Amino acid sequence: MPEQPPWWTRAVVYQVYPRSFQDSDGDGIGDLGGILQRLDHLADLGVDVVWLSPVYPSPQADNGYDISDYEDVDPLFGTLGQFDELIAGLHARGIRLVMDLVVNHTSDEHPWFVESRSSPDSPKRDWYWWRPPRPGMAPGAPGAEPTNWHSFFSGPTWELDPASGEYYLHLFAAKQPDLNWENPEVRQAVYAMMRRWLDRGVDGFRMDVINMISKDVAPDGSLHDGPPLPGVPYGDGSASFLCGPRIHEFLQEMHREVFAGRPDRLLTVGEMPGVTVEQARLFTDPARGEVDMVFQFEHVGLDFDESKWRPRPLRMRDLKASFGRWQAGLAEVGWNSLYWDNHDQPRAVSRFGDDSPRHRRDSATCLATLLHLHRGTPYVYQGEEIGMANFPFTALEQFRDVESLNHHVQAVAHGADAGEVLAAMRRMSRDNARTPVQWDASPNAGFTTGTPWIAVNPDHAEWNAQAQRADPDSVFAHHRRLIALRHEDPVVALGDFTMLLPEHDEVYAFTRSLDGDTLLVVCNLGGSAQDLAGLLPEAVGAGVVLGNMPEDDPAVLRPWEARVLRPAR
Ligand code: NOJ
Repeated sequence: MPEQPPWWTRAVVYQVYPRSFQDSDGDGIGDLGGILQRLDHLADLGVDVVWLSPVYPSPQADNGYDISDYEDVDPLFGTLGQFDELIAGLHARGIRLVMDLVVNHTSDEHPWFVESRSSPDSPKRDWYWWRPPRPGMAPGAPGAEPTNWHSFFSGPTWELDPASGEYYLHLFAAKQPDLNWENPEVRQAVYAMMRRWLDRGVDGFRMDVINMISKDVAPDGSLHDGPPLPGVPYGDGSASFLCGPRIHEFLQEMHREVFAGRPDRLLTVGEMPGVTVEQARLFTDPARGEVDMVFQFEHVGLDFDESKWRPRPLRMRDLKASFGRWQAGLAEVGWNSLYWDNHDQPRAVSRFGDDSPRHRRDSATCLATLLHLHRGTPYVYQGEEIGMANFPFTALEQFRDVESLNHHVQAVAHGADAGEVLAAMRRMSRDNARTPVQWDASPNAGFTTGTPWIAVNPDHAEWNAQAQRADPDSVFAHHRRLIALRHEDPVVALGDFTMLLPEHDEVYAFTRSLDGDTLLVVCNLGGSAQDLAGLLPEAVGAGVVLGNMPEDDPAVLRPWEARVLRPAR
């Protein structure tokens, strides 16, 4: 760490998923006007940065992660003028704005792709991944795709263009063709676009699946099949596109072309499925000039088997081993980002906590304490600060997400039981994170005066921001305290991390230390009381810096109790 640690070591980021945040025009879809109405909520919470999920023009096949114009705002969300107002409104409150950068792929309606598709001779043909069918096979024949890769959104990663008889690559939906980063024109076009947004006043980027931009392409231009996957006629191509051969080169080039020489106010975070600690250390080593931090996925992959649609209970020691490894791996070089929730994950209180009425508030505040006291930059996803829970889905018609809906079609077509598929979706679908923010107890939770694009969780009458902002014991109030603590206490921001009790199945405990000052964090991640005096005697006489319950017997940790303690020196 340099003499002056970067500002984001003390910062907390809040993610806004605009579609579900606040609607201002009654069309049932959240928008920039809505965000502008809620800026004081963010300021009161005390966050330092807003990460805004995509608001660019888009056919909305993947809720804006399919961009058809990088230079504008979709009328669905508002105008560029409102975007400028948002930057100004946030900056006036001391909050920075980080945009979502989705450049592994565009929409198939982006003019670049329209032109690329228009003819094999198009000057933009090579901006995307066009390939002929497998040798000896007719276009469109089963298995004729250029590789056997399984798409993240089910089916093959290749779509046939009947006009040319060639296929294009899409790691996600067919409406999200992958850009060819091997082509220097593509890279320069992306960098120029990024510079324009920075010049406009944005403070950095969250980079969507950025470790997928380099594909492992053979000298003859071919791509490699992956090992077969169980239950589907496809293979796992990830070895060919996760952290591919040129990924560091591309990110260093981006850094030089876009960020070098700009003020220190900027923040870059790369979303990187499958990234290892060793790779993350390289990506976030400041001396290498790539990104400030990455989103890794290890801890959100511990509660399922070969796919997220096969959930199983989380084992506490797996969680400790994983977080412990990441804390240790990025202790000397690099930096962690910390999250439970985002727009792709089910709600943390339902997934890792206990959303039953008895434990919901306590488990939400306990999980938050655990996360925010780690070393790294915490991310709060909209609604997490009020303990929003998964939606009680009962029918297929209630789902909206392309990933969930495609999975259902594919799984049932391959013989899965529809009831079991639905049960897994209820637990793991991304739509759990996408129901509207619950602002108050009114019929649509204050989100819209129209019909919301996805149903509001019926629990909003009890669980809403208005009620919690007035309550000093609420999940919201607890988040405020955690965020303030990071701002005030250098041990929280910068202290070393040591995991305690790695084998214990209920109590998650660790210390943070800096210049002889130590914090001891103890969290009971279960529904029965724990003998703290027996487990960690040093905790008993320590001063309480922050807890999620009124002080009581110092020797006992109540169900879902969390305490941040400062043992006597
Ligand atoms: C990751 C994003 O977070 C997710 O929402 C999206 O569907 C995929 N990348 C594709 O852009």
